[in-house]
Amino acid sequence: MKLKLLLGIITCFSLATAQEPTTTYVGTKMCKMCHNKAKTGQQYTVWLESSHARALATLATDAAKQIAVDRGIKTAPDKSPECLQCHVTGWGDPSGYQLTVDPNDRRAMAKNAALENVGCEACHGAGSEYKGKKVMEAITAGTIDPATVGLVLPDEATCKKCHNENSPTDKEFVFEEAVKLIAHPYPEKAQ
Ligand code: HEC
Ligand code: HEC
Ligand code: HEC
Ligand code: HEC
Repeated sequence: MKLKLLLGIITCFSLATAQEPTTTYVGTKMCKMCHNKAKTGQQYTVWLESSHARALATLATDAAKQIAVDRGIKTAPDKSPECLQCHVTGWGDPSGYQLTVDPNDRRAMAKNAALENVGCEACHGAGSEYKGKKVMEAITAGTIDPATVGLVLPDEATCKKCHNENSPTDKEFVFEEAVKLIAHPYPEKAQ
């Protein structure tokens, strides 16, 4: 009993200290490097074929422009924070998607492009501390608690950050159904 309490305190402590602000967004291309093999489920390709991978382009459609007009938003939806916050990765974070990037900084331009749309890190958390192969394998082996390196194993609350009534096109969101539509499991876990 005492041991349990102590462990609880240690866990709370490490959760509070080990996360942000050291974690930064690295972009979907980084995850693609290791997560696009058919043998292990090609998560990148599955994602690319989902509507999350087109979320920014959606903001350039006539439907999006009409929504913006109706709401009195003066700038184009794909340039408006009111819309971008749920249609890109890491909005509001200094290492997340930026509205303007120095066009001469090719690295920054490439990184920003990899943060367009609802990318891996929009659900799994900023990747800087967990993207290394050793850390990733240790998480899978159960020797590192994902939370201590910022890796989120998404649940309903993760989705509801965007799938909520602040979305102008909010539809009923049934988590159990929705996760099936975006599923990208390891092959051995697929049903
Ligand atoms: C250097 C290679 C590498 C990179 C880069 C990488 N991963 Fe991984 N990841 C792995 C390996 C290896 C595993 C262990 C399972 C496996 O063999 O696929 C893993 C496992 C995972 C898991 C499952 C963890 C669990 O509980 O079992 C998630 C989720 C994940 N990665 C997400 C990401 C995301 C998101 C990114 C980009 C920010 C990323 N990974 C970048 C190699 C990588
Ligand atoms: C960062 C915001 C964000 C998060 C987090 C997020 N989504 Fe989404 N989701 C979107 C946006 C934006 C779209 C619309 C994409 C488009 O059509 O351009 C979308 C579309 C979808 C769709 C397609 C719905 C349709 O009507 O076409 C499904 C299914 C979905 N999301 C499931 C999920 C699930 C499950 C989670 C959590 C595990 C999740 N989403 C987390 C923003 C998000
Ligand atoms: C709170 C998060 C959020 C905000 C803010 C947001 N969206 Fe979305 N958007 C979503 C989600 C989630 C979806 C997926 C469908 C749904 O459930 O609404 C989506 C889907 C869409 C779609 C596709 C509609 C469809 O029926 O599939 C359009 C167009 C769109 N959004 C435009 C906008 C515009 C324009 C703005 C800014 C005025 C905006 N969104 C702001 C979360 C958001
Ligand atoms: C819309 C939210 C969302 C996005 C975007 C997303 N994932 Fe996931 N991912 C999930 C959910 C939900 C799970 C299931 C978690 C669980 O099993 O507890 C998951 C599981 C995984 C797993 C573990 C698979 C398994 O069978 O255990 C890996 C690896 C992974 N994601 C990698 C990625 C990579 C790489 C990307 C980007 C190319 C990505 N994910 C994008 C929500 C997302």
